[in-house]
Amino acid sequence: MDMNDLTRQLGGGTPRIAFGADYNPEQWPRDVWKHDVELMREAKVNLVSVGIFSWALLEPEEGRYEFGWLDEVLDLLHENGIAVDLANASASPPPWFTVKYPDSAPVDADGVRQTHGSRQAFAACSPDYRRAAAALTTAIAKRYADHPALAMWHVHNEYGCHNQPDFGPHAERGFREWLRNRYESLDGLNEAWGTAFWSQHYYDWAEIMPPRRSGTHINPSHQLDFARFSSDSLLECFEAEAAILRAQSDKPVTTNFMGLNMGLARPIDYWRWAPRMDIVSNDHYLIAEDLRNHQDLALAADLTRGWADNAPWLLMEHSTSAVNWQPRNIAKAPGQMLRNSFQHLARGADGILFFQWRASRAGAEKFHSGMVPHAGRDTKVWREVVQLGKALEAASEVAGSRVAADAALVFDTDARWAAELDSHPSIEAQPTRELRDWHDALYRSGITADLRQSTDDLRAYRLVVAPMLYLVTDDGAANLRRYVEGGGTLLLTYFSGIVDEHDRIIMDPVEGGGYPGAFRDLLGVEIEEFFPLRDGEALALTAGSGERWSELGRTTTAEAVSRYERGPTAGSPAVTRNVSGAGTAYYVGTSPDAEALAAFLPRVLEDAGLEAPAHAAEFPELEVVRRTSDGTSWLFAINHGEVDARLSVDGIELISGTPTEGALTIPAGGVAVVRLA
Ligand code: GLA
Repeated sequence: MDMNDLTRQLGGGTPRIAFGADYNPEQWPRDVWKHDVELMREAKVNLVSVGIFSWALLEPEEGRYEFGWLDEVLDLLHENGIAVDLANASASPPPWFTVKYPDSAPVDADGVRQTHGSRQAFAACSPDYRRAAAALTTAIAKRYADHPALAMWHVHNEYGCHNQPDFGPHAERGFREWLRNRYESLDGLNEAWGTAFWSQHYYDWAEIMPPRRSGTHINPSHQLDFARFSSDSLLECFEAEAAILRAQSDKPVTTNFMGLNMGLARPIDYWRWAPRMDIVSNDHYLIAEDLRNHQDLALAADLTRGWADNAPWLLMEHSTSAVNWQPRNIAKAPGQMLRNSFQHLARGADGILFFQWRASRAGAEKFHSGMVPHAGRDTKVWREVVQLGKALEAASEVAGSRVAADAALVFDTDARWAAELDSHPSIEAQPTRELRDWHDALYRSGITADLRQSTDDLRAYRLVVAPMLYLVTDDGAANLRRYVEGGGTLLLTYFSGIVDEHDRIIMDPVEGGGYPGAFRDLLGVEIEEFFPLRDGEALALTAGSGERWSELGRTTTAEAVSRYERGPTAGSPAVTRNVSGAGTAYYVGTSPDAEALAAFLPRVLEDAGLEAPAHAAEFPELEVVRRTSDGTSWLFAINHGEVDARLSVDGIELISGTPTEGALTIPAGGVAVVRLA
């Protein structure tokens, strides 16, 4: 069962894009519920997530369940033709649980035990938590597996968000077990972690702790393995609960990922998790103050599509307007929510859901927008919700199609985790910012990129950009080399290919040879020393300038496309191009400004056989993406700008139902979906 099965179920056989929200009726008196379903029908809502934070009401004391209210809710939704994404409610254990099992609460790196009072206070390796979550999941699965409203299962909620990694005794035990599986012997671990440094040699597994507070920098290899372990231990929780649901029901199972959302997703390796999902689902919230937050949205959607291996995915949450948890929670401008929704759709989502249906009256999220705002129906938000429901219904035929992309960006979780560790040459070397910058460079050129891992088959892509691939495995490096030698065009940026999977410098201890150890030959360069730049400093290049980073080095077989003009690295190559086998490998040793980028990006695209479409220069605020299926193509055009945009395109515009007759105007702030003739 996958996303296609879900959209078919929603449309009674003909695919229908999912539309709805988290629905938390338990926050409202019963007489509100019937108004809810009336409004849902008005807005054409067809799927709601129920029960995500209902543990305390469903199980008032251990082993005693109260399902009456949930039965009523599901029946009511079903009577009104609204399908349910039913949660197993394991996300937030109730207060009675932490009181009864105090050691099930997580302990932070300072040794402070957390408690209930917010949400999601549990240690992933706590046997009591796992037992209780399994019992609750079993009870819910047995009761609702055959309920006609059930369309899919929602396990937990945003693993790794508000449940922080645990550093307590359960993690200590789990981490040691995980390390024994990985290294088998302490010799292997000592070698991998480089424990000869700072007298860290381990003689007994019992000496190894989670990386709790210590005097200063903790061994980075130790930290990296702890991140992997923390992700794996939450994945064990997911798998145990998903297995219970799958044993009772054939409906698809998911848990909502959280993309790149402002770095919060750090504890989870979604590449490892995604294959365990029947449907990949993601939550995305705009960074309200970022004027280019639509490009950040595009990146998050592209990344989710990568996790889904290019299959359609589900946007489980976004907001109709403001959120409550940023420093300044700027509300969405008129039309912005529609554009956001169609961006996700354009980039592969087959469902657009929100957090949440009705804005809460009490609690920490009462200032978070919902589909039904505090001010009710006569509002911008409600009118746009109704408009969106209609537009999604009109665009239903795109469900099941796939996004067409000629380029890929490589983004490995291990590389990100390792690059974000401390004690590095510069805090400016930030992998997610670098990823975003290169995604933006392609976005501005009108080129859609998939997100992939270094070890994936990349041969279908004309261009592969690997921004700050700091850590790379032997397999990843060999795969990228094969990609280039087979005719591909690869662009690597600074601080890539520096360390192996254990965060040890890739080098020959006798010969040396310079950075980047994994890619020196492929790139035809040798870097001898990093020269990170000062805050705000820009270093002149042959064309434009570079920021954040520079390097002292030389080309071996590569051609220098541009060089540093002054300073201690004057004359060293900044951008290089090397022909290797049938392909080409570029290296960019700095963060190029717009002028520097403009000086070489067209050449990279030319080597790759790609061309920036004309609209990219003509209407820089117009986002154009294509989805295809069995010979049919749909063009999505989203105008983020303040002037109308015009495209030459022949087909039917689905939202208005009108033929384009050769040309289409996308009004300022508007969206269009054209089935191409
Ligand atoms: C996350 C959570 C929701 C809610 C929203 C608010 O996505 O999953 O429960 O807290 O954030 O933006």
